[in-house]
Amino acid sequence: MQLLLDTADVIVLKDLVATGLVDGVTTNPTLIAKSGRPMLEVIAEICDLVEGPVSAEVAATESQAMLAEGRKLASAASNVVVKVPLTREGLIAVRQFSAEGIQTNVTLCFSAPQALLAAKAGANYISPFVGRLDDHGAVGMDLISEIRAIYDNYDFDTEILAASIRNGSHVTQAAIAGADCATIPPDVFASLFKHPLTEKGLDQFLADWAKTGQSIL
Ligand code: E4P
Repeated sequence: MQLLLDTADVIVLKDLVATGLVDGVTTNPTLIAKSGRPMLEVIAEICDLVEGPVSAEVAATESQAMLAEGRKLASAASNVVVKVPLTREGLIAVRQFSAEGIQTNVTLCFSAPQALLAAKAGANYISPFVGRLDDHGAVGMDLISEIRAIYDNYDFDTEILAASIRNGSHVTQAAIAGADCATIPPDVFASLFKHPLTEKGLDQFLADWAKTGQSIL
């Protein structure tokens, strides 16, 4: 399973990239706004930091304008994946991007039929928003399972990228449901290393080791 970081904060990203466990990055207009920096500059910097896919989202809503924006974003670095909203216009653009060999991540997916259309349009990634569906009163993770079954039934290559992840349990459930990737906010990513019993156990081991008076080196 590929673990992506959902951030446009380069300082935070650098810190987690140092673990060697970040496979890629996703951004969205909200995250770019939060960074307070010019989008193309941030995307180019992120692409220098990670070898894997870096999603950069178009802001246009009409397919021709999306294509123009997406081509510009894709020219920033070879690992840019153009993020396109799951609308009729968006999927028209995805079809064309696919013909041009430009990678796409279809975002704001909230239903299985939407995911089916995105795969048929040739999307490289589909981003079902698990947390926002939970907020809406649905069970977001069910959507990941439904899309997995549909894509497997028809051998679609589109990768399922679990998005809007809110906690470690979402990561576990997405992995069990067969998501190919998950994009994780930095605070949730950092929490994945931790368990209270790991900390407690380590404290005990270190205390007992100190009593031995030994040194390994
Ligand atoms: C995915 O690509 C989105 O950037 C992100 O996961 C949205 O998450 P949110 O619902 O926490 O804003």
